[in-house]
Amino acid sequence: MKVAVIEGDGIGKEVIPAAVDVLNAVNLDFEQVPVEVGYGKWERTGLAMDDADLELMRSCDCILFGAITTPNDPNYQSVLLRIRQELDLYANIRPFRPLGITMDIPYKPAKPFDIIIVRENTEGLYAGIEDVNQNRACSTRVVTRKGCLRIAKTACKLAKGRGNSITIVHKANVLKSCGFFRELCIEVANENGVRYNEMLVDAMAYSLVLNPERYDVIVTTNLFGDILSDLCAALVGSLGLCPSANIGDKYALFEPVHGSAPDIAGKGIANPLAAIQSAKMMLEWVGEFEKAGLVQSAVDNVLQKGLRTVDLGGSASTNDMTKAIVEYIRSVQ
Ligand code: NAI
Ligand code: MG
Repeated sequence: MKVAVIEGDGIGKEVIPAAVDVLNAVNLDFEQVPVEVGYGKWERTGLAMDDADLELMRSCDCILFGAITTPNDPNYQSVLLRIRQELDLYANIRPFRPLGITMDIPYKPAKPFDIIIVRENTEGLYAGIEDVNQNRACSTRVVTRKGCLRIAKTACKLAKGRGNSITIVHKANVLKSCGFFRELCIEVANENGVRYNEMLVDAMAYSLVLNPERYDVIVTTNLFGDILSDLCAALVGSLGLCPSANIGDKYALFEPVHGSAPDIAGKGIANPLAAIQSAKMMLEWVGEFEKAGLVQSAVDNVLQKGLRTVDLGGSASTNDMTKAIVEYIRSVQ
């Protein structure tokens, strides 16, 4: 298997090597194809990603991605959005559950919860159709039948293996494009025998903070999914704990939910668990369920033992955390 490894910028350069160490520890047979894209490349060459980089990604089975710093330039086109669109990675899957509910983390949820956000990843307000002049800025929100049907099907498929219900999140009371999304999600849920309920996105933000345990699989459009993901990351305790998968019919990209965190980059203190669990999602995607389970038990084990990076109120470094995980994996193999 060939994996395009994109460290990107900032803490991407620290957490992706940690994830690769863990993939090696579980003896995954894979070839690494390093691809340099991002802010560093943009500063050097004026282009954050070129067509050859995309071709290299296409020549691989999947991508392990760190994070990219966004330059302060109005003409800059987001690298990640372009990769998601070019490789048609339409489903952004983001699981959120507190790891070790007894953890003494800065925010401690009152009740256990286990949520998956299924975010449409190629259209909506991030479709890239924008028009700015001196007096007006317009971003066109694109919601297509094809886009709705395939994201709703992905959500229903995930729901089948869990509580068989989805929550459709929209703002159909104001936006016609949301009414369209809602109708098609309901159609797909009914066709698949999956129960559904629905929430307006603003009420959903409120409810998720108060009662996250009420929710299971959440399906929503691109921007809403982006925002609710960071909210759920706070519920879990840190962005540094939250992994994600971007899945298409042919390709897939696995990345932590967090960004390049310039405020802590280079200090060796980033929490690698989001990246390591993204690698775990990659293992599941390729059908290596045993290896994936091993990674998850290693993560749970080191947290239960009390190891904490700075974001979780501790003092362990990126290396300490990675070493502890690798040692646990070696000890049970
Ligand atoms: P961020 O996610 O990089 O950081 C938000 C806060 O969480 C910061 O205080 C950071 O220190 C902390 N944090 C994030 N990940 C952490 C980890 N693994 N361990 C410990 N603490 C962690 O979001 P921010 O600051 O809004 O964006 C920074 C840059 O990253 C921007 O240029 C932004 O555009 C970019 N970004 C890139 C993403 C991507 O490439 N997928 C996603 C989000 C932001
Ligand atoms: Mg985001």
